[in-house]
Amino acid sequence: MPAHDDPRLSGAWIALERHRETLATSPLSALFERDPDRPRTLSAEACGLFLDYSKQRLDAVARGLLLDLAAAADLPGWRERMFRGEAVNVTEGRAALHVALRWPPGDAPPGAHGTVVARDVESVRARMERFSEDVRSGAWIGYSGEPVRHVVNIGIGGSDLGPAMVCRALDALAHPRIACHFVSNIDSNHLSSVLERCDPRATLFIVSSKTFSTEETLRNASSARAWLVGAAGDDHSVVDRHFVAVSTALERCAAFGIPERNVFGFWDWVGGRYSLWSAIGLSIAVSLGMDAFRALQRGAHAMDRHFLEAPGEANLPVLLALVGIWNRSLLGLPTHAVLPYDHALELFPAYLQQLEMESNGKGVDREGGPLARAAGAVTWGTLGSNGQHAYYQLLHQGLDTVPVDLVVPVFSQRPLPGHEDAVVANALAQAEAFMRGRGAEEARRELLAEGLADHDAARLAPHRAMPGNRPSSVLLYERLTPDVLGALIALYEHKVFTQAVCWGINPFDQFGVELGKRLAITLRELMAGTGDAAAHDPSTRALVERVRAVRARA
Ligand code: F6P
Repeated sequence: MPAHDDPRLSGAWIALERHRETLATSPLSALFERDPDRPRTLSAEACGLFLDYSKQRLDAVARGLLLDLAAAADLPGWRERMFRGEAVNVTEGRAALHVALRWPPGDAPPGAHGTVVARDVESVRARMERFSEDVRSGAWIGYSGEPVRHVVNIGIGGSDLGPAMVCRALDALAHPRIACHFVSNIDSNHLSSVLERCDPRATLFIVSSKTFSTEETLRNASSARAWLVGAAGDDHSVVDRHFVAVSTALERCAAFGIPERNVFGFWDWVGGRYSLWSAIGLSIAVSLGMDAFRALQRGAHAMDRHFLEAPGEANLPVLLALVGIWNRSLLGLPTHAVLPYDHALELFPAYLQQLEMESNGKGVDREGGPLARAAGAVTWGTLGSNGQHAYYQLLHQGLDTVPVDLVVPVFSQRPLPGHEDAVVANALAQAEAFMRGRGAEEARRELLAEGLADHDAARLAPHRAMPGNRPSSVLLYERLTPDVLGALIALYEHKVFTQAVCWGINPFDQFGVELGKRLAITLRELMAGTGDAAAHDPSTRALVERVRAVRARA
């Protein structure tokens, strides 16, 4: 039955909509007056992460109704099917078994193929371990006999964002000899600027591409290979010592010139945006070491178990998901910001953008029927500390309400006196300010206290007033270790999955990215003067003509 026709689901949505109406006249301040115990009742803790969602515009009744929605959408059934390796990616007929990649060694994930999957995962993991140890110890040498000093991961989307984010987040643990770079952009400025810092004799390229057909990656890999071979006096045999690949497409790797012994495989049941746990995480293993990679996986597995076993009202991914559904589908708030106060999480929002928006940025349900309600929030964010001095102005006083997750460490990875308290104080101050705001009368009184005349205070008060009632969650942890980071990533993975189930979406395909890729091929022909101009619209044709004219003049 199409998700939007299911009477149980419709009933759950209707109950939620009714409750939203009853809460509409209760700003956050009123909710706290009514129930000062909210910080206790609307919070949960697991796997080193503490979630306080008491400053969201909902109450325990709303949470109960949202849990009813999740039950009506059969979250337990979908969750079990995903963990058992069934084809939950219904449009592509595939499993989504990233949880198997972080299953503890010696144990097998559930499902008919659990043992086979565990054996395959373990064998690639063992190869990753040997290889990364060789590179780190200096046993793996380049064409001139030098150990590796630069690792360049060439990949894009899920073959870049996850490993780049993890390597950045845990760079305090990075191998002191090895600098890790990530090249994704097809603009050669990216690759060139990295190669300027590398020595070809000591550079290892990891070409990461699930399909090994992605234009950006293949073009960058070809240019990198040309740079290496050129530096080695046109000796093509050096590719062997300087290029490895991570892919599901072994023949394409071979066609590129990377021999099978240098290829680390994975499987079609690993989605690109869930692939950092597979050999796509090779750069993590090389840069941080296999112990850190294992700890990352251990943290994620702990979150997997929590997601499977904890009751809904204590289940972090479920709660985070339901809060997001409330904001997106009930309150109609189209965006959501994730604002880390931990500098190490600089790349986390960019990573989450793919995870959330490529998964749930859909307009139809699993059966292809139109979604009855808005789903999939625009996810964005940067470091909170810097954002405070840039775009928080709009978050506090703009007409749009943006729900935020403030991700806050109690301790820094690299502490200095006085900094840690400032980090926490700033993050919590923002959450309080978002909620409390400041009324015009309060602003006017403050201005009078500052010595302004009546008419000036009255004139300026509206500019100083802040509406407040802006929802936020705080996600607090002690210190960003590999375990905590693993749990944090898995938390958001399962959040996205839970939302998809409640919205009736398949979160594991991404057909929306294809049309642009196809048009780029024909436009390239048009730019070369050979394509079919009539196949494109007048605006696109005119822009291509302009580019051709500029090029002709250059
Ligand atoms: O274009 C989107 C996408 O397919 C992502 O889903 C994927 O993570 C990325 O491109 C890279 O794909 P690949 O790993 O096959 O190069």
